[in-house]
Amino acid sequence: MPESVKKLVALKATVLVESGAGWGAARSDNEYTEAGAAVSEDRSVLLQAADVLVTVNRPSPQDFSSLKSGAVVIGFLRPLDEPAALQPALTQGLTTFAMELVPRITRAQSMDALSSMATVSGYKAVIIAAERLPRMFPMLMTAAGTVPPAKVLVLGAGVAGLQAIATGRRLGAVVEAYDVRAAAGEQVRSLGANFLDVDLGGLKTEDAGGYAVELSEEALERGRRLIEERAKISDVVITTAQVPGRRAPLLMTEAAVYGMKTGSVVIDLAGATGGNCALSKPDQGIEINGVLIIAPLNLPATVPVHASQLYSRNITSFLSPLIKEGELHIDMNDDVVGPSCVSHEGQWVNTRVVAALK
Ligand code: NAI
Repeated sequence: MPESVKKLVALKATVLVESGAGWGAARSDNEYTEAGAAVSEDRSVLLQAADVLVTVNRPSPQDFSSLKSGAVVIGFLRPLDEPAALQPALTQGLTTFAMELVPRITRAQSMDALSSMATVSGYKAVIIAAERLPRMFPMLMTAAGTVPPAKVLVLGAGVAGLQAIATGRRLGAVVEAYDVRAAAGEQVRSLGANFLDVDLGGLKTEDAGGYAVELSEEALERGRRLIEERAKISDVVITTAQVPGRRAPLLMTEAAVYGMKTGSVVIDLAGATGGNCALSKPDQGIEINGVLIIAPLNLPATVPVHASQLYSRNITSFLSPLIKEGELHIDMNDDVVGPSCVSHEGQWVNTRVVAALK
């Protein structure tokens, strides 16, 4: 975004922007020029000139090969789920930083692009559900009688789930949520939603980083039984449960979908990692027994202005400390820079990525 260009130019960096790069987010080439960038239509010239390439998604093999050896790439590179696709970056001797790997420590909060995108997705999932539901969300008392509020069930109360809860509440729905992390309970209740407790028998449900761990089949089954019961009385189910580096947990069975009321809506936000709902189809909306199931793969792209604004700020927060007097300085011992790095000068450096390659 142009506001970020200004910040990088103030650090004495030269910023080059591909013509039209901002169109989707309602920013014209002129705005980039005014912010101090040089705009060009020739992608290969831009790539060859770049010391640092900032992208949204992983560059194509062709774009990787246009970069000069030793260049730095920063973006959503999918290092844990598609590590082999980064091989061209190694061949080219590149240093790559994945926004997915930015550690969730206090100092790196402003760089947390996963949270930014999850925030947008959680919000938009509710908006889509409200639009597709053949009912209204708020309770209304009218001369023609009372309209009951919609009932929304949110599965997974991380960043996306909490935003879905907040948005559903703002629209007037009655919301309840389920998560395996006990810490999520307090956050759910503080948003005015009901938290569904499942007795997991004292099982360890989260790792040292605060992420959920993969549960045993028996523990998952206990959650599924409760979800099946609650889905029967829900108008909307929004699923957001993920376990980093693993297939998304299966939380809504076929029976849970068949038990829902006609006209209900399920939005499965875990479609990219296999889905939380047994019947959802990635990037499709399907109707089964009168229940609409939508599994969108890229909701942030449907809110491009704010998704770009947040991502742009995250990237700028990551990149700015690496630039001193217009020169790039990469300190691999830094507690944000080191863990975010996938490959350095053509060598794999992240042990989780190396493990995922096997
Ligand atoms: P995520 O996208 O990996 O997962 C979403 C949610 O699904 C999580 O709350 C997880 O507990 C839940 N889940 C996983 N398996 C489940 C199952 N079988 N049944 C029900 N729910 C299940 O997680 P996200 O949203 O990226 O964040 C997760 C954690 O990271 C949270 O503790 C959050 O508070 C923390 N966090 C910390 C940040 C920081 O310190 N800078 C920033 C953002 C999040």
